[in-house]
Amino acid sequence: MPIQYSEELRLFRLATPNTAYFFHINEGGFLIHDYYGEILPMCDLRSASARIGKASFSPRSADLTTVPETAPQEYSCNGTGDYRISALQIRESRGNAATDIRYVSHKVYPGKPAIQGQPATYGTDEETTTLEVLTEDGVTGARITLYYTVFEQQDAISRRVKAENNSEKVMDLERIYSLCVEIPFGNWELGHLYGSWAKERTFERKEIPHGITAIESKRGSSSHHHNPFAAIVDKNTSEDTGAAYGFNLVYSSNFSIQVEKDYDGDLRLIMGINPTDFGWRLEPGEAFETPEGIMVFSKDGLGGMSRIFHKLYRNNLCRGPWKTKKRPLLINNWEGTYFNFDEEKIFNIAKDAGELGVEMLVLDDGWFGACNNDKAGLGDWFVNEEKLKGGLSNLSERIHGLGMKFGLWFEPEMINPDSDLFRAHPDWCLQVENRPMSIGRTQYVLDMSREDVRDYLFKCMDDILNTAQIEYVKWDFNRNLTEVASFLLPAERQKEMFHRYVLGVYDLLDRLMTAHPDLLLEGCSGGGGRFDPAMLYYSPQIWTSDDTDAMERLDIQYGTSICYPTSAISSHVSVCPNHQTKRTVPLRTRGDVALAGSFGYELDMTKMSEAEKEEVREQVKEYHKYYDVIHFGDLYRVIPPNGEECAWIYVSEDKSEALLTFVCIRNHPQIRRTVHFRGLDPNKNYADEQGTVLPGSAWMNIGVNYPKSMADGTTFKVYLSEIQ
Ligand code: GLA
Repeated sequence: MPIQYSEELRLFRLATPNTAYFFHINEGGFLIHDYYGEILPMCDLRSASARIGKASFSPRSADLTTVPETAPQEYSCNGTGDYRISALQIRESRGNAATDIRYVSHKVYPGKPAIQGQPATYGTDEETTTLEVLTEDGVTGARITLYYTVFEQQDAISRRVKAENNSEKVMDLERIYSLCVEIPFGNWELGHLYGSWAKERTFERKEIPHGITAIESKRGSSSHHHNPFAAIVDKNTSEDTGAAYGFNLVYSSNFSIQVEKDYDGDLRLIMGINPTDFGWRLEPGEAFETPEGIMVFSKDGLGGMSRIFHKLYRNNLCRGPWKTKKRPLLINNWEGTYFNFDEEKIFNIAKDAGELGVEMLVLDDGWFGACNNDKAGLGDWFVNEEKLKGGLSNLSERIHGLGMKFGLWFEPEMINPDSDLFRAHPDWCLQVENRPMSIGRTQYVLDMSREDVRDYLFKCMDDILNTAQIEYVKWDFNRNLTEVASFLLPAERQKEMFHRYVLGVYDLLDRLMTAHPDLLLEGCSGGGGRFDPAMLYYSPQIWTSDDTDAMERLDIQYGTSICYPTSAISSHVSVCPNHQTKRTVPLRTRGDVALAGSFGYELDMTKMSEAEKEEVREQVKEYHKYYDVIHFGDLYRVIPPNGEECAWIYVSEDKSEALLTFVCIRNHPQIRRTVHFRGLDPNKNYADEQGTVLPGSAWMNIGVNYPKSMADGTTFKVYLSEIQ
């Protein structure tokens, strides 16, 4: 039973195969959190959650049924005695923000309801069970529903919240987080992913200090700088063992993850929309739904936690035919030509690539309007026939004539001041009247909360997709938001703009994917500036970073894999010296690193030597051979990149094949390097490509030694397949 309720104890138990989550309703109707972690049977945990020794200066609720600050709260409220971080704060019509919600009713049902206008995980009635707990603030009439969906085959629980104004007066939501979790004291560390452009998702793990630690974005996107992800891990947790909680918000805009450690060492974590620059007015009868937060727990370390996210996102977040269909091996012209191309140039790249086995050409930035650099044309989504004679349909036909597919770059949310669109509709940009507009990469941002703007963009994109055969769209987003205001909203609703903006983006994505359900979409934001689960719902792969240097990619792809699956991590082979780092790395290594993702090339193949082309043919063969184990297998990060070496292993779900990749980052003479397989069936026999046959137990316990003579930046792979 994934969700149980004991009438007698007024206690809920949510269970996945290996985890359990408990909370109860106390005599005053407060929802008190009891436990989250390794699976436990239904049992009376109510007394275990009572905390002692924290009562001084902590007021009691008026009905004396709880001390809000000392009781672990299922969903913490502001202004009525809980001084720790609040998940909920509602300013009522009388101007105060005291909030106090109590249990009203609950229901449990199979399946998982969608969130109106927002991306979320999904599951059939067999895969998922949902609990809705309705609560109410008896004074203001705010009705708050807490949603919990249990993924029965996976150790994941999704949560979200709905607020309804059940009163005659207006009220303003000031904070409405998607989830709140209480974790009792321990030796906890916080893991998170920070970075910048070309250096996204660096994994950092630190002891949690007393006070409040915040991981947030207020850039109007999930951002390069912080990812909407946090892990709480024991200080002894490793890749393979130990407790690891993971939290990830399905949201692409301003998010906030806060962790408060109180003087006893107890933790509270809240995750949701960042309250900075947020507010939402609820008129009587109106409702608001938060984005969804995902929680996972594993006792098998960070690796176990990551594998739960990977499986959940592959099966229950990514959607459409491409979540299971093999992705075309592509070549993108960006680093090969930048803006400097014409139809012949693109066709010739496609032709050479096609001869080596590449299956799709993606035409990047610069094909539209008066665009010859990043200073003009964004917004004018009409083909530039001076560059592409005969237009996109002609180019697409010629590329299809080579037996290849064709993909195209768009940056729908942006507009150059030097564009026909801006000249016609200057009011379509985000801006504050009488305040100069900040500019980034010579572009302004369109007001995506406006329906007329979205209608225009949809029509342009739909027309382009209907006039030429285009199987793939790369959706880019190359700056962060400023002066976030809309001409169409009254002053009291301007605080809704960041959220309305992203709802507009979701709406356009949804319309596009509904009109073109077979389209393969790749997300992008100056590399991986919007690499989050909400984007994965629409685009099963995301351009991971503008840094294509294989050595840098080891860190970036390692960090990204902490919660995102390999199939989502777009990864391309580019030229050397690398354009971002000037580093030279062997082509074989560039291929082996890019293989740990959605693979492709990003260079001018017409400039490759015969020897390089031969290497590409080899890589294409490997792409096909290893595709299933890499895209659908379990990932084991056996040696996280450490400046010296790095290794990872994929094992197929049925444990019939495995691929190990080892990278020698920096060689040392006389050092023996051994890597142990993980995740194999100890009792099955596996053969490597040289014909050595050993049981899984031997491959895991004895491991594989590597040649001492490996040069810096070279790789070594071992592929095992089961021998019956
Ligand atoms: C961003 C993307 C690149 C490329 C350029 C085009 O930086 O990340 O891959 O598409 O825009 O301008």
